[in-house]
Amino acid sequence: MIKKWWHDKVAYQIYPKSFCDSNGDGIGDIPGIISKLDYLEDLGVDIIWLSPCYPSPLADEGYDISDYYDIDPRFGTMADMEQLLRETKRRNMYVLMDLVVNHCSDEHEWFREACRDPEGKYGNFFYLQDKKEGELPTNWRSYFGGSVWEDLPGTDKQYLHVFHKKQPDLNWENPELRQEVYKNINWWLEKGVSGFRIDAIINIKKALPFANYEADRADGLCSIQSMLRDAHGIGEFLGEMRDCTFKKYDAFSVGEVFNEKPEELSDFIGENGYFSSMFDFNEAIFGGSEKGWYDAKMITPDDYKRCCFEAQAKVGDIGFLSNIIENHDEPRGVSRYIPEGSCCPRSKKLLAALNFMLRGLPFIYQGQELGMENVPITSIDEVDDISTLDEYRVALEAGLSPEDALTAVARMSRDNARTPMQWSAEINAGFTTGKPWLKVNPNYISINAADQQEDPDSVRSFYKKLIALRKSPEYKETIVYGTFEPYLEEQHNLMAYYRRGERTLLVMGNYQMEEQDAVLPADYRKILLNNCPELVREGDVLRLQGFQVVILDILSIGKDH
Ligand code: GLC
Ligand code: CA
Repeated sequence: MIKKWWHDKVAYQIYPKSFCDSNGDGIGDIPGIISKLDYLEDLGVDIIWLSPCYPSPLADEGYDISDYYDIDPRFGTMADMEQLLRETKRRNMYVLMDLVVNHCSDEHEWFREACRDPEGKYGNFFYLQDKKEGELPTNWRSYFGGSVWEDLPGTDKQYLHVFHKKQPDLNWENPELRQEVYKNINWWLEKGVSGFRIDAIINIKKALPFANYEADRADGLCSIQSMLRDAHGIGEFLGEMRDCTFKKYDAFSVGEVFNEKPEELSDFIGENGYFSSMFDFNEAIFGGSEKGWYDAKMITPDDYKRCCFEAQAKVGDIGFLSNIIENHDEPRGVSRYIPEGSCCPRSKKLLAALNFMLRGLPFIYQGQELGMENVPITSIDEVDDISTLDEYRVALEAGLSPEDALTAVARMSRDNARTPMQWSAEINAGFTTGKPWLKVNPNYISINAADQQEDPDSVRSFYKKLIALRKSPEYKETIVYGTFEPYLEEQHNLMAYYRRGERTLLVMGNYQMEEQDAVLPADYRKILLNNCPELVREGDVLRLQGFQVVILDILSIGKDH
């Protein structure tokens, strides 16, 4: 495998609106981010992915961009952005922007022009169809609910939006549009960003000509997935994008890719793949239901293990997955992947180690390093996220009581990850001196960065040790490039695997409250990390405490063990 500059790094996602507010307007901003770079450097972070901070009406919290060449005044100025780039560079850190080019905002100039003159140049930047009374061009359901078709204001046409109606889809079949996208990417790369996280990219190729698919709910519509299964040839767009942009700059790119066809994996992230990496969402999508969030199945420790192992087996040494526990679209990982009632610093550390030591590039989402948890949502009126609001409606329509519908969507809500970062036990968790745009999780008194930085046994300190281990000269090679191999895969509530490279590491976690014995395959040289004060051993058996996780440097043995 050809080594790349980003392979041995650790990435951290910032959701700017909720990270740190520097001017008391209740909204996080770039100067706020700059003020926390020391914090990130101390943790050991190298790469920072910024969720969108471009001008936006914030219909989908910035994933609806009205100008790709500027910064939203709520988040700061271009001068702030340039300062952030300088300040990160000084610390040997890298910045990734979010590339949101499946769609733009309906307030983008291109869309305004398209409304003014649908037959003109910009009409062809979107998917426009003549409006027919009583009939939609297709029966596709948007990700945020309802039809994907909306009237194009002031015209006799309709436009396509697979997300919110304020997010019109861009027409990637049009070479002129594609050139505009590449121009923008290169503009940012010239400015000094090191790459991009690429949003919703799997949607850029539509199955054409437009057709209806079998309805899968009472609304008579079908999931976008039905259409995507029929869309072929996305590779031509992605290959062209890579060649015209990332490749020339040796930039890092990570795709938000769901449900790629297995045989396409090497096209996506193999040698000369479309992207450097893509996220592993295998755990995140587990239990999902076509009916909606209310019908989603809970994930158990054994399911979690199976999802991680499946993803690892699938990717092998084809390339590098980007591993996450959560992001801004998911509930908090500790609230989801740790069995109910067992969420505590020890189990949070277990989850951290099991995920972090997988082969691939680890991404930490802001607050994950503190073990931030889901927020209690007591009324639907508290909810900001458009996706949660839609899923609530879907749950009600399915016959759930308002109370049950709220419980069902609260555990999946994207707002869980979007509550303000918990910096300290001061008012508003130290996030703002004003009124935070979204309710702070009341548990900030006990879960916050200031306390955890002081405490050598905190979740944050554990993350810091994991990061330091990944970077240590002795173990780096093994952790970054070593192979992945399950150990005692069939043992219930035990998640264990080897990483084999220059060294042989064994990661072992007792994924339950009760203690559990696990056989050691060989003697160990050293305990590299342990979330408990000790490790009980009787002969070749380890007696693991509830939620104990250990990383062992073991004597190398044959593969049959
Ligand atoms: C991606 C983003 C999500 C957004 C959607 C539409 O999934 O991560 O936040 O709502 O794309 O841009
Ligand atoms: Ca602010």
